[in-house]
Amino acid sequence: MMKKTILITGGAGFIGSHVVRLFVTKYPDYQIVNLDALTYAGNLENLKDVAKAPNYKFVKGDITDEKFITELFSTIQFDGVVHLAAESHVDRSITDPFAFIRTNVFGTCILLNAAKESWKGNMEGKRFYHVSTDEVYGALEFDGTFFTEETSYDPHSPYSASKASSDHFVRAFHDTYGLPVVISNCSNNYGANHFPEKLIPLSINNIKNSRPIPIYGKGENVRDWLFVNDHARAIDTIFHNGNNGETYNIGGNNEWSNIDLIKALCKIMDKKLGRTEGESAKLITFVKDRAGHDLRYAIDSTKLQRELGWKPSLQFEEGLEKTVDWYMQNQEWMDNIINGDYKNYYEKQYSER
Ligand code: NAD
Ligand code: TYD
Repeated sequence: MMKKTILITGGAGFIGSHVVRLFVTKYPDYQIVNLDALTYAGNLENLKDVAKAPNYKFVKGDITDEKFITELFSTIQFDGVVHLAAESHVDRSITDPFAFIRTNVFGTCILLNAAKESWKGNMEGKRFYHVSTDEVYGALEFDGTFFTEETSYDPHSPYSASKASSDHFVRAFHDTYGLPVVISNCSNNYGANHFPEKLIPLSINNIKNSRPIPIYGKGENVRDWLFVNDHARAIDTIFHNGNNGETYNIGGNNEWSNIDLIKALCKIMDKKLGRTEGESAKLITFVKDRAGHDLRYAIDSTKLQRELGWKPSLQFEEGLEKTVDWYMQNQEWMDNIINGDYKNYYEKQYSER
């Protein structure tokens, strides 16, 4: 395996932390630099098991800070970038769209430009991997169709519009400057270290504490759920074997309406908590729908499966149970988020260096 220095952005977040762990442990000859601004969503506790690995380095910094990013790229010669840093929560994008424009659009452009300048004259062997979402494609009806790589972009939320915009800039840097880019668009992830503002970890925490489980509208909206470790494996596969300028859809072929998913979760939690079946489901509470709530997402990942040989490793029921077990066994991780202590993790871990 060749020695490489790889920049992973957003590595303290949910998916980023799984990607960092995979790269640090699977590729001991790679130097992995995790760049993260540690916003509310960044949590270095997610990476405590690899924090002291000799091939891992954490850098606290903001991708929207052009001077800082330019300096970083002139200090360290990166061979590749895996870009995950983003504002990621649709509900937050409805209340504060500009935070999404800043990080997801402007921040991505700053990174693209830094890579272009740093690799100018020799793009051989370099790679800029942009991690995106299926939400850029808009919403499907209940008609059995899927998002393919050819589906036209039709974003509806400020989040998906900002991700769509960043995808366009990534392609523009490829087409205009020859930047060696690759993009993937993935469906909803679930698993360990998922910030408890999102449906599954929020519901696990509320069920455990016998609090209402808020379901938007009638709970009919459908998402295609993929285990986060399978997404990290797909990113590894595409980063190493994907073709420049290409897009790959990643998905679990695993559609669930929100209400059916929460009922399945309640059933698992009843067993784990020693409750009689049906007790947790009584916590389900229908609340006001999300504005512009996309009806259905479903991914066709045939291209990735056929061309690069990736496939999901877990059935949803198994993955959901594993996820519940992780949250039950890591109550301290959840407590630290709820009481805000996770924000001090950076100081605790890095102040002596
Ligand atoms: P997350 O919100 O859990 O983590 C985002 C990370 O980025 C955090 O650590 C945060 O501190 C960091 N960050 C935010 N703004 C930054 C900035 N300006 N500079 C540097 N770091 C910054 O997000 P996630 O769910 O792990 O998603 C990661 C990526 O994957 C995103 O690009 C998202 O669009 C994409 N994605 C997510 C999903 C999903 O289901 N969560 C699905 C498909 C694609
Ligand atoms: P979310 O986890 O926010 O992911 P996304 O909006 O990116 O798909 O939401 C998943 C689905 O669950 C989405 O249809 C909105 C819905 N939802 C609820 O019904 N209640 C909630 O409290 C949350 C956070 C989401």
